[in-house]
Parts: sequence; C-alpha cells; structure tokens
Amino acid sequence: MAIFLTGSTGYIGAHVAANLLNEHGASLNLLVRARDAHEAEDRLWRGLQLHLDFKPFYEYLQTRIRIFRGDLTSERFGLSTDDYDRLVHTTDSVIHCAASLRGHQAGARSRPLPWPAPLQPRQHGCGGW
Ligand SMILES: NC(=O)c1ccc[n+]([C@@H]2O[C@H](COP(=O)([O-])OP(=O)(O)OC[C@H]3O[C@@H](n4cnc5c(N)ncnc54)[C@H](OP(=O)(O)O)[C@@H]3O)[C@@H](O)[C@H]2O)c1
Repeated sequence: MAIFLTGSTGYIGAHVAANLLNEHGASLNLLVRARDAHEAEDRLWRGLQLHLDFKPFYEYLQTRIRIFRGDLTSERFGLSTDDYDRLVHTTDSVIHCAASLRGHQAGARSRPLPWPAPLQPRQHGCGGW
C-alpha cells in the first residue's frame, strides 16, 4: 500500500516526498499535473532534486513512486476509471500538500485546496489547518 501525496511538485510537498522516500522507505502515489508521463517525471524531478540525487530518484521512480497525472479540481482528479480505481485500492493514507495562490495577491499565503474528498483513509495536511 502507498501514501497518496498531493503537491509533490511544490515546496512543502517535495520536501515531504523526499523525506518519506529516503527516511521511511515509503511507497508513494503522487498526483502530478502534466500533459504526459515525461512531463510529469520532469516536473517531479525539478522539485525533488533539491533533496535527492538523480540515481535514487530514478530508482524510486521504478520501485516506489506511482505517478497519477491529474488535477485536484477535476472530478476523480480527471483520472480514467482504471487509474482512479488503482489509486483508491493502493492508497492507505493521504498527505495533502497541494495549495493554490489563485485569487490571492502576490506574496499572500497560499490557500490549501479542498481535501481529496473521494478518499477517506487517514489524512494529514501540510497547511496547519
Ligand atoms: N512554503 C512554506 O514555507 C509553508 C510553510 C507552512 C505551511 N505551508 C502550507 O503548505 C501548503 C503547500 O505550500 P507550498 O509552499 O508547498 O506551495 P507550492 O510550492 O505553491 O506548491 C503547491 C503544490 O500544489 C499543487 N497544486 C496546485 N493546484 C493543484 C491542482 N489543482 N491539482 C493538483 N495539484 C495542485 C502544485 O502543483 P503544480 O506544480 O502543478 O502547480 C504544487 O505541487 C500550503 O497550504 C501552505 O500554506 C507552506
């Protein structure tokens, strides 16, 4: 089973992802916004490279990271039925770090996005709410 982590391409989410991979041997289901698999891996690497060398990143990609290309604001994250079922059936907890600055002035605190409602296992947020 895996932890479903949102916001892994962001500042806090990348830190959380790297810590779970490096220090806790966790398996991660990551929701990443991207047009294709290559872009998703590239965007993830850009965030995680502050915390990981490329070799372990690549190993984790093969073994313990499963990327779901989707968007929190879309129904079922915009995933296909098969991908959505795979996400639900392989997730045992959620760490929700995605946030949006939309609607806020530059420099304002980011706004946490709503909980990923379809998933109701143990949940933890990064925003202190
Ligand atoms: N930064 C801090 O020092 C700090 C300290 C304490 C608490 N926090 C809280 O932690 C949370 C995250 O902050 P952050 O600084 O990490 O923000 P961030 O760097 O702006 O990252 C936001 C993350 O959310 C993702 N995201 C936004 N909209 C999405 C959507 N519709 N679907 C899927 N993913 C989406 C972004 O993906 P894309 O890459 O695709 O945009 C990115 O991965 C916020 O609630 C913040 O208040 C932050």
